[in-house]
This record gives sequence, C-alpha cells and structure tokens, in this order.
Amino acid sequence: MIDVRPIGNSWAAEVRGIDLSEPLNDGTIAALRAAWLAHHVLAFPDQRMNDDELERFTLCFGPFGEDPFIAPIAGREHVIAVERRADETGPVFAEAWHTDWSFLSTPPAGTCLYGVVIPPIGGDTLFANQHLALDRMPDGLRQRLEGRRAVHSARAGYARDGAYGEADRKTRSMDIRPSDDAMKTHAHPIVRRHPETGREGVFGCAGYVIGFEDMDPIESTMLLGELYQHQTKTEFQYRHKWSPGMLVMWDNRSVLHSATGGYEGHARRMHRTTIGERG
Ligand code: SIN
Repeated sequence: MIDVRPIGNSWAAEVRGIDLSEPLNDGTIAALRAAWLAHHVLAFPDQRMNDDELERFTLCFGPFGEDPFIAPIAGREHVIAVERRADETGPVFAEAWHTDWSFLSTPPAGTCLYGVVIPPIGGDTLFANQHLALDRMPDGLRQRLEGRRAVHSARAGYARDGAYGEADRKTRSMDIRPSDDAMKTHAHPIVRRHPETGREGVFGCAGYVIGFEDMDPIESTMLLGELYQHQTKTEFQYRHKWSPGMLVMWDNRSVLHSATGGYEGHARRMHRTTIGERG
C-alpha cells in the first residue's frame, strides 16, 4: 500500500511503501499519477534502481520525451547524467529557473531525476508552483499576460555561444552538445491550462522565454522581469533535499525548477529521464 504524504507544510509529497525496482501494476501507476497531478513533485526515498528500472518506471507515465542538446550516457538512449565532478569549478548546470525543454513544440510532461551520488551538503533542487503563482498574481499583471503567447528558445543556453556552448564544453563533465538548432523558437500561451487537470498556471519564465509575440522587445523584457519576480517568490517554492537512492519526479506543466550549488569539493551525479506527453 503506497503512502503519500506532503513534505513538511509544502505542496510536494513523499511516497513510501513502494519498491521502484519492481514492475508496478496498473492500480499503483494510476494512484501515483493521481498523486503526481495533485502534488506536482513526488519524492521516493530509499530506492535502489538501475537504469533499466529507471526507464521502466518512466514509461509507466508516458513515452520517453525528447532530450535535445545533452548526449545520453553510454549504452542508453533515454538516460542523461546531470553531473559535476568534485574538482569542477564552472557554473552549476541548470542553476536558473526553467521548465524542462519548454522551447520544444511539445514540451515534456515530466522529468524523473534519480540520485546516484549525492553530496553531503548543498545541491538541493528548488521548485516553484506555477498554479499558486497564477492564483496569487496581482490583477494588473495577470491582465497584461492573459491571452499572450510567450516565445521560447534554447539559445541562451545551448547556442554555440550560449552558457553551455563551445567554451563551456572545455571544462564541464556533462556531455552537452550545443547546436544551431538552439536558435529555433516556439510560442506557447503564458497562461495555460494543465492538459490533464485543466488547472490554469503560468507556463515558462525568462530564460527559455525570450519575449512575447506581437510585443515591443523592451516592453516584453520588462513584463518578463515583473513576471519572474512574482512567479519565483519564496511563498511558491519547495526546496528539495536529496539523499542517495532517492527518485524525484516532477510535472513540468505545473512547476518551474532550479538546481543549486553549495557543494564545492564534492561530486554530484543524477540520472535523468524525460516523460513525454501521452498521445
Ligand atoms: C535539472 O534541471 O534537471 C537539474 C536539477 C538538479 O540538478 O537539481
């Protein structure tokens, strides 16, 4: 019997009473999906999963999603490593608010991240609930956003001269492959209904969002800045603390997330899979 409990007084939940190295039956998958949709972030402590099991778990929730710009680990098509050596000194990967791969025409539903090597301090992951951010948005800001389409692009990160571009590759342990594809754009409504729950939320933030359609660039930048200040407020956040063997799955349609540092001198290695939208 699975036990789903909110973590502290947050909206995220911890799931116990389940062994993710075993195949899951339909009833358990349905219960986990309901919990995931309700809590947006689910943490499963004390698991022991290999990559076959991580992939099998991922496929319980949808097809594999696309993972552009990061090469999979050796021998796998659908597992990437989010990793940092103990002696690495460059910027921490993904230490900026985002929702995964939102610049794609069909962004992924969710992400699974499994803690293989967890540093003794730091390396938390922050999540910000974008349904709450919309519910508690000042009317004036909401009126300026309603009906707008945000333009998403990977260029700031994955273009050849981007933050994870050719220069960054020289020192980073992660196998990131910058490319001209990062210059493409896709627009999505900034206020969007969750495709499964129908609940409205903010989708995306400055970073992958580079502006709004049919809006002057300076006005776009100012509106994005104002939105960013609001949607990342501490009151919408949950700070996740990792332990080895923990799996976390989050709903990219409901939350933003950001990696954090603070573990200089220690290694961190996570295996990540992406859950695509169901057809
Ligand atoms: C990610 O954005 O997938 C990385 C999150 C983390 O490393 O905590």
